[in-house]
Amino acid sequence: MTYPDDLVELVESYLGRIRFGEDSDVSPLTEAMQYSLLGGGKRIRPVLLMATMRAYGASPETALPTAAALEMIHTYSLIHDDLPAFDNDILRRGQPTCHVKYGESIAILAGDALFAEAFRLICERQEAVPAVILAVMREISEATGVRGMVGGQYLDVSGNTTSEAQLGLMHRLKTGRLIAACVYCGGLLAGVGGAELDNLTGFAAELGLLFQIKDDILDVIGDTAVLGKQAGADARLKRSTYASIYGLEKAQELARRSMLLALEALARVKGSTETLAVVTNYIYERQR
Ligand code: IPE
Ligand code: IPE
Ligand code: MG
Ligand code: MG
Ligand code: MG
Repeated sequence: MTYPDDLVELVESYLGRIRFGEDSDVSPLTEAMQYSLLGGGKRIRPVLLMATMRAYGASPETALPTAAALEMIHTYSLIHDDLPAFDNDILRRGQPTCHVKYGESIAILAGDALFAEAFRLICERQEAVPAVILAVMREISEATGVRGMVGGQYLDVSGNTTSEAQLGLMHRLKTGRLIAACVYCGGLLAGVGGAELDNLTGFAAELGLLFQIKDDILDVIGDTAVLGKQAGADARLKRSTYASIYGLEKAQELARRSMLLALEALARVKGSTETLAVVTNYIYERQR
């Protein structure tokens, strides 16, 4: 089985149909939002959510509003991550970054708006009983707040991440937590509860760590044209990464270990996990 392109197509077409505002007064803000959102990307987060739905026999389509919301939030994080105050990058998803194309103030607002519109989309379009919707929103807000992505981004720019423990925590927060939320929300929307949600979380947490270890490795050995973003950014910024702290070879070994741990955890999940296993392998093998 290969990467689930059918799920990518589902989310691409859904994202392409979202309109943020008809009013010409808010252009080019909405244009900037769409520019970043529709400008490529692997769509791993929505795919993970829908692959988890599939594992329990639920229709992936029914989770599209939440899947799209997660990609909107991820896109917001990329727009802000690329800003001069953060990583100061000029290339993202194979095109000029949002602030290069539209200016910094519009890029900041485009990120802010994508975050807010993501929650609106879930409230207005996601079908589920209110308790499940609330649980989904609680999970996503925790995963993106101080105990998640933003907390991790803070640790990254603070520079206080030189020990192995600090580095692991930073990775789990800045990237791992949102990835884990995608799997968790897929479980919630498929009606999973109790110990099985814990099984999913065990898998998802390891997968999220693997994702960022691999991102660090690709920053060293990846090809800018394939990555669609500038390789070598971490060295330029003197960031602590798995490659800089452990060395490339050991980082690759740790990525392999993390992939095996993720698959081991996935074996404890009771649903039909074939697609999730494929995505895990893809995250490990990926070149972009
Ligand atoms: C890049 O994420 C930023 C990180 C969290 C490491 P992705 O590698 O998923 O980027 P896209 O969405 O495919 O562009
Ligand atoms: C970014 O990490 C993580 C988030 C956007 C939350 P990186 O700075 O390593 O991501 P890339 O390498 O620019 O995609
Ligand atoms: Mg960064
Ligand atoms: Mg960056
Ligand atoms: Mg990176």
